[in-house]
Amino acid sequence: MEGFIMRKIFSFTGAKKIVFGSGSLAALAAHVKEHHGQKPLVVIDKNLAKTGLQEKIAALLSSDGIKVAFFDKVEPEPRIELADEGAALAVKNKCDIVIGIGGGSAMDVAKAVAVIATNKGEAADYLGLNKVPKAGLPKIMIPTTAGTGSEVTFTAVFVRKNLKKKEGMNSPYLYPELALLDPELTLSLPPAPTAQTGMDALCHAIESYTSINASPMSEMFSLEAISLIAENLRACVHDGKNIAARERMLLGSLYAGIGLANAGVTAVHSLSYPLGGRFGVSHGLANTILLTPVMAFNLPGAVEKFADIADAMGECTEGLSDREAARLAVEAVEELIGDCGIDAAIRDFGVKESDFPALADVAMTVARPLENNPRKMTKEDMIAIYAEAY
Ligand SMILES: NC(=O)c1ccc[n+]([C@@H]2O[C@H](COP(=O)([O-])OP(=O)(O)OC[C@H]3O[C@@H](n4cnc5c(N)ncnc54)[C@H](O)[C@@H]3O)[C@@H](O)[C@H]2O)c1
Ligand SMILES: [Fe+2]
Repeated sequence: MEGFIMRKIFSFTGAKKIVFGSGSLAALAAHVKEHHGQKPLVVIDKNLAKTGLQEKIAALLSSDGIKVAFFDKVEPEPRIELADEGAALAVKNKCDIVIGIGGGSAMDVAKAVAVIATNKGEAADYLGLNKVPKAGLPKIMIPTTAGTGSEVTFTAVFVRKNLKKKEGMNSPYLYPELALLDPELTLSLPPAPTAQTGMDALCHAIESYTSINASPMSEMFSLEAISLIAENLRACVHDGKNIAARERMLLGSLYAGIGLANAGVTAVHSLSYPLGGRFGVSHGLANTILLTPVMAFNLPGAVEKFADIADAMGECTEGLSDREAARLAVEAVEELIGDCGIDAAIRDFGVKESDFPALADVAMTVARPLENNPRKMTKEDMIAIYAEAY
């Protein structure tokens, strides 16, 4: 590799084990036993629990003599108190392993439950970076959206209703022992959440690829994620039972999660948190609305990388300058959003233009993603981006 200079020292971390494939849920009991679990607490999405999935999990586990308890209260964009409630249930039932099943909301609650159960205290004590003192119960994460990648990240995100904001718990102890990905579980996700959660995955892939914290290894996952998502999200939205597309899309969100865990995200996530915390905009939708304005802003800071993104999204860049190719990346994402039927703007959620300075103040405090941004972003820049997304 002539001329290849390693830019800086990098490390690479993740979930201890990943099992991927249609039908892989069937071996859940064996995985629980591999981790010496006898009494799992299953943290499950409230809506999914009612679809028969709870009974299916109970049957899979109890046929192997495992005694299972369920915490089935998780709602989208979870309140932090849910993590404390779940942990109390785990302690009361003397659970020895935590299984999270659902989208990012259920998995984030499950990851926090596992560490609060052993560390005591409250979830709010552990918000921020590296605040969790010791390991939690073993964790198995099973995503049903493709999605957040939470099954392979060290993060759990919560809404703090009293403060009207979203905050993350970030600790290596949140990495799951097992990420169990069965694409069949995503077949029931309706078109709109398929589109929105899929765009969150694309955000993770694009943001981690353009993060100044990216490494050659994280870039490999991020770029492949961009291709997989760009090629398969439309089919997942418009032909939801297409298992081949669902498989590739779940693989894409897994790779994007690996990129996110190792390179971080950028300003889209800083700007979207206050929209979720104060106006209840779902995570995927808030990111979708902000993604292209942030890409356009960031373009001068990462021209070559955006040109790579255009290639990865299947755009024809032959004969174009990097700058021309980079602009195609923004257009390709705009087209994908339109093709997936997402037509939303900030104004649809009761946000007023006079709210922008306060939103930007909160976004400025979501510091880690901002530090990764390839172009420095000020409060005034943020206000301009909110205005563009209005
Ligand atoms: N931990 C991380 O690294 C990380 C990364 C990104 C986002 N997040 C967080 O994850 C949360 C969002 O998660 P999400 O986007 O996966 O959505 P979600 O978990 O909130 O689920 C969205 C909706 O889809 C439904 N649903 C989920 N799977 C389904 C299925 N297979 N069939 C039918 N319905 C289904 C749920 O009931 C819910 O109504 C946010 O709180 C966000 O901040 C965490
Ligand atoms: Fe996200």
